[in-house]
Amino acid sequence: MRNELVVVGAGAAGLFAALTAARRGARVALVSARPLAETASYWAQGGAAAALAIDDSPALHLEDTLEAGRGLTKRAAAEVLTGEAAARVRELQELGCHFDADRHGDLALGLEGGHTRRRIIHAGGSATGRRILRALSAAAAEHPQITILEQERVAGLLEGGGVMLRGGTTIAARATILATGGAAALWSRTTNPPGSFGSGLILARAAGAQLADLEFTQFHPTAVVGLKGREGFLISEAVRGEGATLHDDAGERFVNELEPRDHVARAIFNLPGQKALLDMTQVDPKRFPNIVEALQQAGLDPTTERIPVAPASHYVMGGIVTDLDGRAQDRLYAVGEAACTGLHGANRLASNSLSECFVFGRRAALAALDDPPPTDGAVIEANVEAPSRETREAVWQLAGLERSQPNLERLARDPYPLARLVAASALHRQETRGAHGRAEFPETDPALDGRHTILDPAAEIP
Ligand code: SIN
Repeated sequence: MRNELVVVGAGAAGLFAALTAARRGARVALVSARPLAETASYWAQGGAAAALAIDDSPALHLEDTLEAGRGLTKRAAAEVLTGEAAARVRELQELGCHFDADRHGDLALGLEGGHTRRRIIHAGGSATGRRILRALSAAAAEHPQITILEQERVAGLLEGGGVMLRGGTTIAARATILATGGAAALWSRTTNPPGSFGSGLILARAAGAQLADLEFTQFHPTAVVGLKGREGFLISEAVRGEGATLHDDAGERFVNELEPRDHVARAIFNLPGQKALLDMTQVDPKRFPNIVEALQQAGLDPTTERIPVAPASHYVMGGIVTDLDGRAQDRLYAVGEAACTGLHGANRLASNSLSECFVFGRRAALAALDDPPPTDGAVIEANVEAPSRETREAVWQLAGLERSQPNLERLARDPYPLARLVAASALHRQETRGAHGRAEFPETDPALDGRHTILDPAAEIP
């Protein structure tokens, strides 16, 4: 099979990249390991951030992104995101995505932690990911230039451009765009679907691409705890944006609920019992129908009682190192959570992730179309296996919100390569910054501002 591009992953970034290229006449093969409904984007509740309000601007969005990133955000990447997000929202509307409107018919804009303005667009209340993915999947399925290969896994990259599937079929292309999502499901307590174990990172590293900042995993503060069948279920930050409050065991408020996630998650982690109660009884249940319904089905009524919550692994800020066009190396691109443009620094600002998928998904597709036609070359195979239950439990226990040297050294001996790379990165960063907390180094070291942890692909895995 010969295509212009191969896109691996059918979440928001992959679908948007595929559609961008196909709408310019390119033939695209879109490979998805899972049915579309199981990507992490599909689960996204919050929305996409863009400076759309009259009192907002890309400059203000940039300021908030930099502040949340705790001195590690790459400014140029944040400028691209905040400068282009609004145009991508309009493009999504052209592609058939409908966002919630206010009573005047304008886009309804939500508030989330770390944002100084209302700038989160959403759909179906808290069903944003699902609604966007349905619309984009339908557009991709109907597009004559896109071939969707569902339930197929990539086992290696072709040196001359393209991929090899498990089973040996090769798909040649000018370039491959990895949109495989992140690795947050490497932690046993997670808000992510099981497929988020870093397959793209493993493929890219095998091909010689660099990985960076793997010590920075965002722990979302409000994942349901202790509820059978709903463990780790995410209660969107948007709920706090509409007035939900957090309480300790004694019923006291203990944190400003609208601070960025690293602060709120750590404040909960530092409570006795490491969990809190979320009070959303004052929030209009019609604004978050999915969340209310899911909790009620599990036997908790958020309209009358407080919900036990605790942090869970949610998003990896690190990933495959790319430039501002998503380029990791010749003919290889990474977009969305799989990529590390440096945009999120040490702590991603809420709802910047979906915006990133569209902004950088488009940029990568456009850049990849300029690559030369594929050539012959070797297959670079990678061992893309999911982690065991033991590994996931070890990662949660040993590389959770607070990491100690002995625990990280233990994790550095885990059989799963990506778990070892997380441990190596976390050992390397001898400070506490954003989402990364080191027991022996509780302060942020200003000398490490802007210093990323880059793992050399040629180096031995520790
Ligand atoms: C949320 O709805 O709280 C999650 C959105 C995000 O990860 O930015």
